Amino acid sequence: MTAQGCSRPLCANAGAAAPWRRTARALSVGAAALAGLLSGGASWGADLRLPEGPGANVVYSKCQTCHDLQYVVDAKGLLPAQWNAVLASMRDYGLQIDDAQAKQVLQYLTTYLGPHPPPAASASAAASTGASAASARAVDGSKVYAENCATCHGAAGLGQPGYYPPLAGNPDLARDALPIVVVLNGLSGPIEVGGRAFDNSMPPLDYLSNAEIAAVVDFVRGWGSAKLEPVTPEAVAEQRQRRMSPTEVHDYRAKLK
Ligand code: HEC
Ligand code: HEC
Repeated sequence: MTAQGCSRPLCANAGAAAPWRRTARALSVGAAALAGLLSGGASWGADLRLPEGPGANVVYSKCQTCHDLQYVVDAKGLLPAQWNAVLASMRDYGLQIDDAQAKQVLQYLTTYLGPHPPPAASASAAASTGASAASARAVDGSKVYAENCATCHGAAGLGQPGYYPPLAGNPDLARDALPIVVVLNGLSGPIEVGGRAFDNSMPPLDYLSNAEIAAVVDFVRGWGSAKLEPVTPEAVAEQRQRRMSPTEVHDYRAKLK
C-alpha cells in the first residue's frame, strides 16, 4: 500500500490520523526489519489497553510486531469489510496468522473496535468468562508460546539476529524471576545475549493469566539445559504486584546476577 494507492474506504477514515504512518509507507523492507525500525527501541504503546473482550489477546500478540497498537485504535469504528481489508494488507506486509486466529481477530475488531461496540460491562463480563474458562483448562505452555511469542522469537525459540534474542538455550531464563518479569512488563534497551547485541523493545504481555505465564516460562526454559524448579502461578501473581515499565525491567535485568 502506498499513499497514492490508498483507495480503500479505510484510508479516508484512518488516513488523516498520524504523521508517523508516513515512515512506514516510505519503507519497502521486510517485516523483521520493519519491526526494528518502527519500534526503534523507544516507544511501544506500552500503556495502550484495548477494550477487553474475547480475541483481544490475539491482537496483543499479533499486532504489535511491526507497529504499536495506536495504529489499531486509530482505526476504531471501521466496518467489517474494512477490517477485513486491513487484515489482508497486514498479511501482505508479513503478518503471520493462521485462519482460526484471523477469524478471532476479525471478530474482536468488528465488535469491540467496530462502529457499535458493546457496553463496557458486558465486554468485561465476556472477558472474565473467557479468563476463568482458560484457567480451568490445564494450560499447555507450547500453545501459549506458539500463540504469543513465536511471531517474534521464532517457532523454535531461535530469535532473529539484530531484532529478537533467542530463548532456546538462553541462560538469562535461569536468572531469578527475569523471564516472568519480562513477560509481565516488557523489556526495552540494549542487551547482549550469546555474544550478540540487541536494542529493541518487547511489549508487556500482561493480558496472559498467571497460569499461562507460568506454563510458557516453563516451556521456554525446557529448551535450555539447566534443571529448574517449575514456576507456579502464585509466583507469577507475586511478580504482577510490582509493576515496572519496559525500561525499568532493563535496569532490573542489569542488576541481577
Ligand atoms: C508485518 C508487519 C505488520 C503486522 C504484523 C501488522 N501490521 Fe498493521 N501495518 C503495517 C504497516 C507497514 C502499516 C503502515 C501502512 C501505511 O502506512 O500505509 C500498518 C498500518 C496499520 C493500520 C493503519 C491503516 C493502514 O492500513 O495504513 C492498521 C489499522 C493496522 N496496521 C492494523 C493492524 C492489525 C489489526 C494487526 C494485527 C492483526 C496489524 N496491523 C499487524 C505492518 C504490520
Ligand atoms: C512483539 C515481539 C515480541 C513478542 C510477542 C515477545 N517478545 Fe520476548 N522479546 C522481544 C524483544 C525485542 C526482546 C529484547 C528486548 C531488548 O532488546 O531489550 C525480548 C526479550 C525477551 C526476554 C529476555 C531475554 C534476555 O536474554 O534477557 C525474554 C525472557 C522473553 N523475551 C520472553 C518472551 C516470551 C516468553 C514471550 C511470549 C509469552 C515473548 N517474549 C513475546 C520481543 C518479543
